[in-house]
Amino acid sequence: MKVLYSPAEFHLIFNYQQKAGSMRKLENKVVIITGATMGIGESLARLFAAVGAKLTLAARSRDKLETLARSLGPDALPVRTDMTDPAAIREMVRLTVERFGRVDILINNAGVGMYTSFADTPSEHIEQVITTNWLGPARAIQAVIPQMRKQRGGQIINISSVAGKISIPWMSTYCSTKFALNALSYSLRMELAEENIQVISVCPGRIKTPFTDNAFKDARTRALRPGGISPDRVARAVLRASLRGKREIVVPASNWLLVWLHGLMPRLADAAMLRIIRRGMRS
Ligand SMILES: NC(=O)c1ccc[n+]([C@@H]2O[C@H](COP(=O)([O-])OP(=O)(O)OC[C@H]3O[C@@H](n4cnc5c(N)ncnc54)[C@H](OP(=O)(O)O)[C@@H]3O)[C@@H](O)[C@H]2O)c1
Repeated sequence: MKVLYSPAEFHLIFNYQQKAGSMRKLENKVVIITGATMGIGESLARLFAAVGAKLTLAARSRDKLETLARSLGPDALPVRTDMTDPAAIREMVRLTVERFGRVDILINNAGVGMYTSFADTPSEHIEQVITTNWLGPARAIQAVIPQMRKQRGGQIINISSVAGKISIPWMSTYCSTKFALNALSYSLRMELAEENIQVISVCPGRIKTPFTDNAFKDARTRALRPGGISPDRVARAVLRASLRGKREIVVPASNWLLVWLHGLMPRLADAAMLRIIRRGMRS
């Protein structure tokens, strides 16, 4: 029997088949996700598992990692990893290769926020943020490159921030780490291109996760509360960026306006940013 579809039905089916086809590109891919126990990392883990990827889930909380891995099935490997410990990072990569035989994608997602007055922040707190947000991801990249070279390719996805493109008051240390992570991504993208290793920079705006509660704060910034878009939206944007081999994404895309404003009218951007943060601190 001949089946005829209306243009709208045809469009739906065509889109579905195209999406299903590109999703299959991630089936059986081996993906390391750091900071997988909550927030954006957990959303990434659930989404990449749903499209058939094999996952190494890394973070410090062993119980949360094991519960998440059990809920995702046998192709999820929980590996307790503190991103401030170089030996633990090397072990995370070694265990991934031992279990799955390769590493296709590294998602450097683990991170910690800091909303404090820079002048009064203890240097050991600054060190913790720099090590978690920049040195840890940098070491993870160095640890996966030899394996990706052997495979003749791979993808490195760095979860940076809009705070890595515009400066925010009382977030000087955090912004510094994310600007530095973006700089690393931009340089490495060129450096590794001829070895077929792609580097993607992901810059989320304000995302509703436990991030603000987990961040270092002081008396002035204690009132700041989580808000923004859902981490699932970031996870979907990362998956699309991975499939399309994008260079850089900002999520939500409307935040590009802030980035452009910061570049074109820096004084106006500074004033707007001060107002936004002061309002958040008062509430
Ligand atoms: N939420 C936002 O508004 C926002 C905006 C822009 C960018 N980002 C970035 O997005 C990424 C994820 O943030 P999120 O919002 O999902 O934050 P989150 O909810 O606080 O989750 C952070 C994750 O990182 C892990 N982590 C923290 N320190 C670690 C360490 N030393 N070693 C290993 N794992 C560590 C935590 O797990 P354990 O505690 O179990 O280790 C947790 O799984 C971060 O890089 C953040 O900077 C977030």
